[in-house]
Amino acid sequence: MNIRCARAEDLMSMQHANLMCLPENYQMKYYFYHALTWPQLSYIAEDHKGNVVGYVLAKMEDDPGEEPHGHITSLAVKRSYRRLGLAAKMMDQTARAMVETYNAKFVSLHVRVSNRAALNLYQNTLKFEVNDIEPKYYADGEDAYAMRRNLVKWAEEKGYEPADKESFFRPIEEKKTKKY
Ligand SMILES: CC(C)(COP(=O)(O)OP(=O)(O)OC[C@H]1O[C@@H](n2cnc3c(N)ncnc32)[C@H](O)[C@@H]1OP(=O)(O)O)[C@@H](O)C(=O)NCCC(=O)NCCS
Repeated sequence: MNIRCARAEDLMSMQHANLMCLPENYQMKYYFYHALTWPQLSYIAEDHKGNVVGYVLAKMEDDPGEEPHGHITSLAVKRSYRRLGLAAKMMDQTARAMVETYNAKFVSLHVRVSNRAALNLYQNTLKFEVNDIEPKYYADGEDAYAMRRNLVKWAEEKGYEPADKESFFRPIEEKKTKKY
């Protein structure tokens, strides 16, 4: 099993894996948007024949007033390749690229409150924390946990070099209150 950065020619296979594994599906142009805008951030897992067996589709968010951060749009591993550590490895590769290329201080995602496998992966293995609950986030009415993983301490422990050290290690600024 091999994990590598996703290329344009992988996008159809990623979409196929997504359709097999998740009810949240996207048009091909949305995959291209990710691959063309943030080519370092999406990864695939392939078997020895080069078949895509899992993917992570990721992007950067630039919300005004927020620190630079990454976002996981979609993650899936085909059924017979699960519990091999592939999702955890792809998520770490993506997080590393977010830090090294874009100075991401944290990475965010949404997950169904009932998705036990994904919640275990995020909370126990990858140390994401629940930041919020978004009621009826999914089309079928299910709630989502909005989760975040702090990348600053993690990158420091791993010895990863952020894109801009000075701002990466600067403490998150308190929101300034308006004075009338
Ligand atoms: C969630 C998913 C991506 C996990 O992929 P994976 O490659 O099997 O995950 P990993 O092997 O990296 O698992 C790492 C850890 O996550 C947890 N985990 C993963 N699958 C689990 C399951 N079915 N039940 C409980 N814990 C699970 C375990 O702690 C596991 O460590 P362990 O195997 O040493 O116990 C996969 O189950 C999947 O594609 N599900 C359908 C799509 C989906 O739900 N995507 C996430 C949407 S937010």
